[in-house]
Amino acid sequence: MTGDAAMRDETAADVLPHGGSRLSAAMRMAVFSTKAYDRRFLDAANRGFGHQIDYFEARLEASTAALAEGYAAVCVFVNDRVDAATLKALAKGGTRLVALRCAGYNNIDLDAAERLGVAVARVPAYSPEAVAEFTVGLILALNRNIPRAWNRVRENNFALDGLIGRNLSGRRVGVVGTGRIGALVARALRLGFGCQVLASDLVEDPGLVAIGVRYAPVDDLLREVDLITLHCPLTPRTRHLIDRDRLAAARTGVMVINTSRGALIDTAALIEGLKSGQVGSVALDVYEQEADLFFEDLSNEIIQDDVFQRLLTFPNVLITGHQAFLTEEALSAIAEATLASVAEVEAGAPLTRQVTARQVRGGS
Ligand code: NAI
Repeated sequence: MTGDAAMRDETAADVLPHGGSRLSAAMRMAVFSTKAYDRRFLDAANRGFGHQIDYFEARLEASTAALAEGYAAVCVFVNDRVDAATLKALAKGGTRLVALRCAGYNNIDLDAAERLGVAVARVPAYSPEAVAEFTVGLILALNRNIPRAWNRVRENNFALDGLIGRNLSGRRVGVVGTGRIGALVARALRLGFGCQVLASDLVEDPGLVAIGVRYAPVDDLLREVDLITLHCPLTPRTRHLIDRDRLAAARTGVMVINTSRGALIDTAALIEGLKSGQVGSVALDVYEQEADLFFEDLSNEIIQDDVFQRLLTFPNVLITGHQAFLTEEALSAIAEATLASVAEVEAGAPLTRQVTARQVRGGS
């Protein structure tokens, strides 16, 4: 290091916005499933923290956990497999914190983490607007056949047959899970588009009730609505929340939107529903088996997942590859919150964004 560089570092230590000097706040962190955008936003946020970050493209799972040896903190994303075997290897290698750079925590064995003394943090609310806006985008695109129309126009096919949509205004829509994201979606649909909004949650949001949102159990909701959008977390309780029976009980031609977690829907049942016409259209940003597909360029590969390939054959299905979170604002907020969690563990301070098995069992 040159004298100038050393000087710059010392000066920076005095002005770290998160307390402590650069050296005392520094903690070694291994980032898994790294993409260029993760690196860009984490490096930018780390100027305010000074952690020592190493990036790995590999997905974290039992077979790659050895890469994390000696790193007190490990940072993972939605499709890393942080099961008991992985956590055992991490704990053995000295890891004290697994920081999820996402809101969902279904891919981590929280009981095993607690047993092994590994704390788990997530980013509960980095930008609910990002996901809510994307959800509304999917609804509009699917409802008015915009992707199909664009494909036609690119081939100079300006025929309109098959592109008839329906007004959203006045339609009955169901929002399952009215937390941060679901509440924004419910508001946009109610106030922006004049939908009749039904909602289902363990706790009612009085702010939504005040604007005319009506709460109902999920089974009642499904029987009444033309469109259902899912915003609850994936837990053992919500796995396959939308299954064969519920789809059969829904209104014929129901539109199904999922930007939460793939396994909220039984995909085989969804395909059956699409084939029979019981399900009218589907937009998904998440998929049950997405870990083998999403976030990679597989355009030169033969996809082995026949269920996913079948989904792609329907003209009334729109799929994106888990990108609802992907905005500048969200990526900055994720990076800031993740590095703040690392700093808290380093300082022995309470972990603000901790997630525990007890919270999951409580369903929130
Ligand atoms: P949140 O915790 O603010 O809200 C979740 C809501 O679901 C809570 O109100 C909770 O009471 C409710 N809930 C729990 N169990 C339920 C059940 N059985 N039935 C009905 N409601 C239930 O979470 P937030 O921030 O709104 O995120 C929701 C989900 O969105 C996350 O769990 C995550 O899986 C997903 N997500 C997807 C992203 C993407 O890029 N596609 C990005 C961020 C989050």
